[in-house]
Amino acid sequence: MAKFRKIGILTSGGDAPGMNAAIRAITRKALDEGVEVMGILGGYSGLIKDRIIPLTPRSVSNIIERGGTMLYSDRCAEFKTEAGMAKALRVCHEQSIDAIIAIGGDGTFRGATDLTNHGIPSIGIPGTIDNDITATELTIGFDTALNTCLRMIDDLRDTAESHARCIITEIMGNGCGLLALYTGIAAGAISIAIPEIPFDLDYACQKIANARAVGKRGMIAICSEKLPELDGVPFTDSYAAEIQQRTDVCTRINRLGHIIRGGNPTLRDRMTASQMGVEAVNSLLEGRSNVVMCVNESRISAVDINFALALDRMYKGKLKDGDLEGFTSYQIAQMKARCEFRRAKIARLYQMSYDICM
Ligand code: F6P
Repeated sequence: MAKFRKIGILTSGGDAPGMNAAIRAITRKALDEGVEVMGILGGYSGLIKDRIIPLTPRSVSNIIERGGTMLYSDRCAEFKTEAGMAKALRVCHEQSIDAIIAIGGDGTFRGATDLTNHGIPSIGIPGTIDNDITATELTIGFDTALNTCLRMIDDLRDTAESHARCIITEIMGNGCGLLALYTGIAAGAISIAIPEIPFDLDYACQKIANARAVGKRGMIAICSEKLPELDGVPFTDSYAAEIQQRTDVCTRINRLGHIIRGGNPTLRDRMTASQMGVEAVNSLLEGRSNVVMCVNESRISAVDINFALALDRMYKGKLKDGDLEGFTSYQIAQMKARCEFRRAKIARLYQMSYDICM
């Protein structure tokens, strides 16, 4: 067993419901194993600025049910610089922190792998509402955000029905359409626009016109945020105008912004966070680092961070020269299969939404 005396936990990037449950699980499991735990406040910038507090079993009481993150979060540009890393390493040495568990998205994992490369073994836990980490089927926060979207869209439907309107609802996702797709299916949206699938504007407007012609009053159309503009106009606004013009159905736009990042985590997010937290500590104690905890086919496993990051860039079409160097042809084939699996799953669900949402 690798011997760690003191570990640090941080949360970085956009917060996500369930991060607190992960902090609690890591803290209690590590303390139970005789390892001291420090909470780093405000992500990597808190590490650089030495904003660090001891965590005890009691200081993580009554947080499993709370959204946000008790350790606060930040996106830190300085940490990516050599000077920032030098400051972070000095703080780790002064505080005697000999390993770090970082909860967040891909930017957080890049920070964790940099720390590992500089002698502080680190582990990543995927915490983001976007569910945009290709190596894992599920990220902490996704399920809660989905349920929040669903609750709010159910409410929007009431007013859409009363006024016979189509409410175009924009949902966060940062380039990943999963939040919009799942919500759209579960909310019975008449159309769903996501970055992964080309959007057929003519078909969508026709579907809305047909629905109105047979008496459908209220409708919900879902758009993922940050879709490419149409003729220089933000996608959501342009789509709403097209519906209004082509179908004569009255439209309103609703943007579900940061509201979906808050709220009490669902059972599923609390479970995933607790299991990943415990497994992250187990991995560290077994001598594994530079891994990210992933859940695939209901099983939690530790995946090499470099593999996870390269896979993510492959899926997002962002591979740069040399990114695949050092990986075996078997690993590259695994990455391709994973990308294909994810694309096929999204295509299948999208087709399903076509078939049943009308
Ligand atoms: O990654 C989570 C997320 O909420 C994205 O869905 C969204 O695009 C982004 O963060 C918003 O970032 P910020 O909180 O910095 O405005």
